[in-house]
Amino acid sequence: MDDVLSFIESKKEENLTGLMEFLKFESISSEPEKKEEVKRTAEYLKDHILNIGFETVKVVETAGHPIVYAEWTGAGKNAKTVLIYGHYDVQPVDPIELWDTPPFEPTVRNGKIFARGTADDKGQVFAQLKALEAHLKTNGKLPVNVKLVIEGEEEAGSNNLDPFVRNNKEMLACDTVVISDTEWFADDVPSICYALRGISFIEVKLTGPNRDLHSGTFGGLVANPIQVLAKMIDELIDENGRITIPGFYDDVLDVTDFERENFKKLPFDLEKYKKDLSVKALTGEKGYTPLERTWIRPSLDINGIKGGYTGEGAKTILPSEASAKISMRLVPNQKPEDITNKIIKYLKQIAPDTVKIEINPLHGGEPVLTPIDSPGIKAAQKALKAAFGKEPVFMREGGSIPIVALFSEVLNVAPVLMGFGLPGDNIHSPNENFDLNNFYGGIKAAAHFFDEFAKV
Ligand code: BES
Ligand code: ZN
Repeated sequence: MDDVLSFIESKKEENLTGLMEFLKFESISSEPEKKEEVKRTAEYLKDHILNIGFETVKVVETAGHPIVYAEWTGAGKNAKTVLIYGHYDVQPVDPIELWDTPPFEPTVRNGKIFARGTADDKGQVFAQLKALEAHLKTNGKLPVNVKLVIEGEEEAGSNNLDPFVRNNKEMLACDTVVISDTEWFADDVPSICYALRGISFIEVKLTGPNRDLHSGTFGGLVANPIQVLAKMIDELIDENGRITIPGFYDDVLDVTDFERENFKKLPFDLEKYKKDLSVKALTGEKGYTPLERTWIRPSLDINGIKGGYTGEGAKTILPSEASAKISMRLVPNQKPEDITNKIIKYLKQIAPDTVKIEINPLHGGEPVLTPIDSPGIKAAQKALKAAFGKEPVFMREGGSIPIVALFSEVLNVAPVLMGFGLPGDNIHSPNENFDLNNFYGGIKAAAHFFDEFAKV
């Protein structure tokens, strides 16, 4: 490992320049006009992975954005195989005016690199690639066989990766899946994530009158779809912070007291948390602590709402339409399809006759709960300790990575969520960034992981 580590140390600048090149691609998966750019990002990755020393690298077309698939099998049939998953697509950049530097012009300041996708997930994927490169270029080989699946649709729900995984079970066979797409509990607290929330995402549209109307002539008699929608949304959560959709909590798994006690040992600082977000108070389900509310309990959020006149000045209309995007974060053992069906049924039930309702399910992802004593987790513990000098903590995560549950199910492996992000990375927000110490340390941790996993 010494040679590998010195190689990594000597390539710091080069690796940062390489990452910057990757970050310049505007690979926003949810914007149709970025389709060609997303494709170019996949092609760039393919070339990059070939340069690292992989022989088999493919850009696999899908009904959506392409998947980059690569293999290095030089460790031989008796060696273990690690599948590394990550995503090269990124979230949209709006509100663009809140970025201090443009989202696709990577800039380094205060020891961090700023650009869309730095932490989520290009920087973390790049750390994995640079770790592989360090092994291959110093020893001409890796301690394990490696398969890479880097997709371009994670931020849009991974809808096309699903059939790829199901249809390529043999090709993807492995001993563990490693994912660097999560963040640490706090700065300087290396962490291993062992649970993710799932997701069910829908769009609901209400139509009232067949055209926008004069709010004086018609107001008071014709129902206003924005107001109807607001009222329906309000009904989804009660005064105790509980979601009111019938049957919503049926499959929610209770968490042991032991696990809840362990959460209390983590350095959660409520005041700092509020201060950082500039909020005076928090919200949520009664009877649960802040960490429990985001980790072990489901939630429901309106992600966006559309309708009516929002331009300068006044325009007195009673709008014809209103719509909202709604995401629900799910916990074991809730099933996205079941929850989607339940919310659709409930919204239709509470929609008054004054409006027409249309609901469009957009995507779903299962929650994840992994054992914390798997060989992969043990290797990750050693790798993080070796790279960052501290024993990692175990944490859950409120966010989702839709494909992880499917990997465990179809490939029958325990996933390892070894991420290098930090809570201040602003993922999905303006000024997304990735701490450079975590980038460089992440490369080392990933390099140690291959070594450790070969031994466990
Ligand atoms: N990297 C995130 C998941 C994540 C979020 C990990 C927060 C740790 C902390 C991932 O890229 C993501 O954002 N996933 C989406 C999935 C959705 C679009 C299906 C999410 O959670 O919103
Ligand atoms: Zn994301």
